Amino acid sequence: MSDDRVGLGLLGAGLIAPFHARALRASGKTRLVAVADTNRERVDRLAAEFSCAPYYGLDEMLANPEIQAVNILTPNHLHHEAVIRAARAGKHVLVEKPPAMSLREVDEMSAACSQAGVKIGVMLQCRSRQSIQAIRAAILAGRFGRIYHADAYMKWFRSVDYYRMDAWRASRRSGAGVTVQQAFHYIDLLQYLAGPVSKVQARMNNLAHAGVELEDTVLTFLDFESGAQGVVQASTALWPGTDIRIEINGEQGTAIVVGERMDTWKFREERPEDDEIRRLGSSAVSTGATGAADLGYHDHQVVIEDMADAIRTGGNPMIPLESARLTLECVLAMYQSAKLRSPVTLPVRDEEDVW
Ligand SMILES: NC(=O)c1ccc[n+]([C@@H]2O[C@H](COP(=O)([O-])OP(=O)(O)OC[C@H]3O[C@@H](n4cnc5c(N)ncnc54)[C@H](O)[C@@H]3O)[C@@H](O)[C@H]2O)c1
Repeated sequence: MSDDRVGLGLLGAGLIAPFHARALRASGKTRLVAVADTNRERVDRLAAEFSCAPYYGLDEMLANPEIQAVNILTPNHLHHEAVIRAARAGKHVLVEKPPAMSLREVDEMSAACSQAGVKIGVMLQCRSRQSIQAIRAAILAGRFGRIYHADAYMKWFRSVDYYRMDAWRASRRSGAGVTVQQAFHYIDLLQYLAGPVSKVQARMNNLAHAGVELEDTVLTFLDFESGAQGVVQASTALWPGTDIRIEINGEQGTAIVVGERMDTWKFREERPEDDEIRRLGSSAVSTGATGAADLGYHDHQVVIEDMADAIRTGGNPMIPLESARLTLECVLAMYQSAKLRSPVTLPVRDEEDVW
């Protein structure tokens, strides 16, 4: 019997890798062919657990013809180079968030993928949550009317030990601050639901991680092109860590997601499907509030399967690089604003100074 599952390789065998590997194993559409990492011990452990081939460098893995796509799971500042190498080897790419450290890098990745004729998608798996998809559909259908507020609250906890686990986790240039690392997902959700963003005013500081040269907290006002306003309040200093909240308030209705669960869904004009929408998601599913490994892999599976479908059918990935670029631009503007202590209007200029 022929195996028409899409063959994938993982680059990076660190913390997030087992979540990708579990998602691949659980899916009937994908097959984990190999894993590569410069850390031999991590590769050997993951390859043994998931019965796949171990490689100790990217180029060796790229030479394997069974691999059609590579999931890039290296530290943030290393995504750019890996994506370009994978694309030049003719492999499709699914890159973890943030896609890269600058818009220039994103544009180079995009050009490399188009030139090679390969697809690139971004792992911003929170977009795939049913509660978020319900809000997105209601916005597109005009149910909210004018949107007044779009807010994200991420009151999480990470210990000092988390920042000491690997050198890149405490390095600003590697993209380790809370804004670009953890909060990227929820800034992305605001951008996806209510964006694009036109202006930001951010304040960043370190509340609880002495000796770590990063912001562990960001407070931001957002203006959206649509005229909506919003706030982002994100921190890894707030023990014990509580579920994220995404709040959308329009002239005709309000939706609030807590973790992955629809908490509030109220419109002036009720529709028959509303009761079912109110039951979407579950408070039993962990979404990262209390620790880096406090996660399920279901959302990852949705994005990975979508990528496999795009490869098989010639379609586009559900989270294209261009839409993640908008979120990165908003994040870069937040860092600029915090540094300048003044509002920053998009498009971003002088991005090379951010890090
Ligand atoms: N989508 C999510 O919810 C989510 C959650 C956590 C992390 N992430 C993202 O996943 C990526 C990895 O994060 P992590 O927490 O697993 O980091 P990690 O440090 O635990 O793992 C990264 C791995 O990459 C390896 N590596 C570094 N340079 C390499 C190279 N040149 N070639 C091969 N391997 C190399 C390291 O040895 C390490 O094992 C980051 O981009 C992060 O933002 C996403």
